[in-house]
Amino acid sequence: MGEKPLLDYHATSFSQGRMDFAWEELSEAECAQAYADWQAGKGLIGGDPRLRPGSDQLPEWGLERPFFRTLALDDRRGGNGARLRAELAGDRPLEVEIGFGRGDFLLDRAGRRPQTLLLGYETKTKATRLFLERIARFDRTNLWVSDDDCRFSLPRLVADGRADAVHILFPDPWWKPQHRVKRLFSPPFVDLLAAKLRAGGLLHFKSDVEAYGELVRYLVEGHGAFAPHDPAQAAIIGEFALTHREHWCRRHNRPVFAYYFVRR
Ligand SMILES: C[S@@+](CC[C@H](N)C(=O)[O-])C[C@H]1O[C@@H](n2cnc3c(N)ncnc32)[C@H](O)[C@@H]1O
Repeated sequence: MGEKPLLDYHATSFSQGRMDFAWEELSEAECAQAYADWQAGKGLIGGDPRLRPGSDQLPEWGLERPFFRTLALDDRRGGNGARLRAELAGDRPLEVEIGFGRGDFLLDRAGRRPQTLLLGYETKTKATRLFLERIARFDRTNLWVSDDDCRFSLPRLVADGRADAVHILFPDPWWKPQHRVKRLFSPPFVDLLAAKLRAGGLLHFKSDVEAYGELVRYLVEGHGAFAPHDPAQAAIIGEFALTHREHWCRRHNRPVFAYYFVRR
């Protein structure tokens, strides 16, 4: 029997937001503030897991499934943490998607690259649970997911230089100034990406908010670890499935801005 179509797209109401994304080059003081906020765990979606009771235990529904939480890796029930650690310690290529949403891109990629290990982060627990059902339905065995904030998990889980690619597709812009601390891209976040990608690894970013793309380009190209955006590096991605947001953009004739930065 053939697989059900991956892209059973149905219209959804994406928040339009205020759509007035403004940014300026960071002053030294703003840069220092970004590092201080990062150190203090500010802006983590769902708060700091270290302050959440029960973070060292997996929920029942996550046992025996390719699901992990960083502080629950030592939960012996089901052995998820041990299995994931063993897979990460191996030498299969590793790709990470941050904010997978419905997971169309990741599910498709796992099917196209059966030799690659894929990690997906999505802080919405319900979306992560739904995605676990799809992983089982499509019988993908090279894919692990977590509802941890990637900013908390990646430094603790993935060894430096281990990742071949990081995909960040249509991240939330967080328009309001008081929410900016939740926005993924900041100087310490780019340090994190630079640390986890191997030399020659790819940072793959897309957004329909042009000014967010410009901010990302400013931060990444300003970091000595990355080569300037090179559209030709899209070849590394090859064929792919559109994310839900990218479908929505096509339906609404919204342009999409894609960036490809190679780790030096
Ligand atoms: C605008 S949605 C895009 C979803 C999907 N990539 C797409 O294109 O349809 C951004 C997603 O990133 C998730 N997210 C935001 N911050 C995150 C973080 N720090 N770590 C992991 N996921 C995050 C959100 O929960 C949300 O589902």
